[in-house]
Amino acid sequence: MSERQALPMDREEAFALLGHHTPTPSLIKHALAVEAAMRYFARHYGEDIEYWGMVGLLHDLDYDAHPDRHCQVTPEMLRESGFGEDFIRSVLSHGFGLCTDVEPEHIMERVLYATDELTGFITACVLVRPSKSVMDLEVKSVKKKFKDKAFAAAVDREVIQDGARRMDMPLDELINHVILALREAAPQLGLDGSGA
Ligand SMILES: [Fe+2]
Ligand SMILES: [Fe+2]
Repeated sequence: MSERQALPMDREEAFALLGHHTPTPSLIKHALAVEAAMRYFARHYGEDIEYWGMVGLLHDLDYDAHPDRHCQVTPEMLRESGFGEDFIRSVLSHGFGLCTDVEPEHIMERVLYATDELTGFITACVLVRPSKSVMDLEVKSVKKKFKDKAFAAAVDREVIQDGARRMDMPLDELINHVILALREAAPQLGLDGSGA
């Protein structure tokens, strides 16, 4: 990948931009969960934590206001805020096969594609636990729910499996990493059991 354009804003400004376009609290939490996964994996792969995190934070920027045009409005929103075309391309790759034809290529894009649905699935697993906490969630419990088609039926298991393949990582390992990533952000995500 060519030299990346510098980010036009810091994390605080990006969070404000997200809030401006995203009034729905659950969608903010989804963005924070994907951000946490992206920051975790950037560290794991020795890549740019701030850049990866911001791609995760802003990946669904148009979804709340334009659910029927998801991924179509985001490019102009990001361009208006000074983001470069590389950043926009990476954001759009999360919708590959769903709302865009931008195939995940860079490892950052593959991670985004793989963790978008998986963070939601693991969050659903946490919320049915008595502890309401990700701190004591184990891979095997997620795997069991993964096989239970009736649980969180809206989550497309095939997309998650495809994401793991694209990362060249066994599904169990990917699940383990995402659990660890969500633990790091558990209080902000409401997944630390404090509300149980
Ligand atoms: Fe999306
Ligand atoms: Fe998403």
